[in-house]
Amino acid sequence: MAETISLMDVDEGDNNTIPKPNKGKNVFVPNDGKAGLWIEKYRPQSLADVAAHRDIIDTIDRLTSENRLPHLLLYGPPGTGKTSTILAVARKLYGNQFHNMILELNASDERGIDVVRQQIQDFASTQSFSFGSKSHVKLVLLDEADAMTKDAQFALRRVIEKYTKSTRFALICNNVNKVISALQSRCTRFRFAPLDPTHVTERLRHVIESEGLDVTESALAALVRLSSGDMRKALNILQSTHMASPKMTEEAVYLCTGNPLPKDIEQISYWLLNETISTSFSRILQVNCALFYYVFVKAD
Ligand SMILES: Nc1ncnc2c1ncn2[C@@H]1O[C@H](COP(=O)(O)OP(=O)(O)O)[C@@H](O)[C@H]1O
Ligand SMILES: [Mg+2]
Repeated sequence: MAETISLMDVDEGDNNTIPKPNKGKNVFVPNDGKAGLWIEKYRPQSLADVAAHRDIIDTIDRLTSENRLPHLLLYGPPGTGKTSTILAVARKLYGNQFHNMILELNASDERGIDVVRQQIQDFASTQSFSFGSKSHVKLVLLDEADAMTKDAQFALRRVIEKYTKSTRFALICNNVNKVISALQSRCTRFRFAPLDPTHVTERLRHVIESEGLDVTESALAALVRLSSGDMRKALNILQSTHMASPKMTEEAVYLCTGNPLPKDIEQISYWLLNETISTSFSRILQVNCALFYYVFVKAD
């Protein structure tokens, strides 16, 4: 939960200047090839849409409303809503000026010291500007901050300090221990835990209903089980299973993900406990070679 909260300062003297185009990559480019993906189609648009993490979301929502957004460090396993949360904050802060006000850098970008010094610095050093009646700080979203080199992280620490007046930094990572403590201490940290089954189920039901899918209850339970609290994984399995078989059963879900069916595992356990190893071996081979691999190679 929140550890340090700094006030949001806006450089009033910089108002009304025309923003330079981002030197870096703007986020949320529609139709970039991901348009057909349900993970994008059903990405929460507002903070209220983000499932689970209510305490964290309410805190961030309040800080955003009060114009007191600190630098953020969101960490935790994939598919739990970290990126979506920051994008929702940006939408709330900037509305249709979204693209001018946020710079997103992620793992596919060069992460050396030069990127920090140039791209971020170029963006952060352009003057803030106002729209509507308010002036705003800009936002730099650094996804996978734990993949940055130590040198780059130290350089970033200085950039953050230098541009605190006009820019907020949102760092996102899976492994917080790979972020240097000097950076951690400049941010308010929030841990995003895996989503609990209730939230995954609820969100999946929403997509199933919106897409008009035919999904059995046991298939839904299998989706929740196999995704282990990773909402991105849950939606990807749902979509790929749907493409493979319009009527979605538990079996279709397991087949699509390449996971052995629970009934096959039961049968195999029975053989292993009641037959000789060589008989079990050949029986399993007869059932399915992939299962043989799963039982004797992968799960050794
Ligand atoms: N808490 C959540 N509530 C609703 N949808 C979520 C949530 N977390 C993840 N998702 C879904 O998974 C996709 C990936 O989420 P994202 O925010 O990029 O996860 P992270 O950055 O934690 O890896 C989103 O587009 C959304 O469809
Ligand atoms: Mg992310």
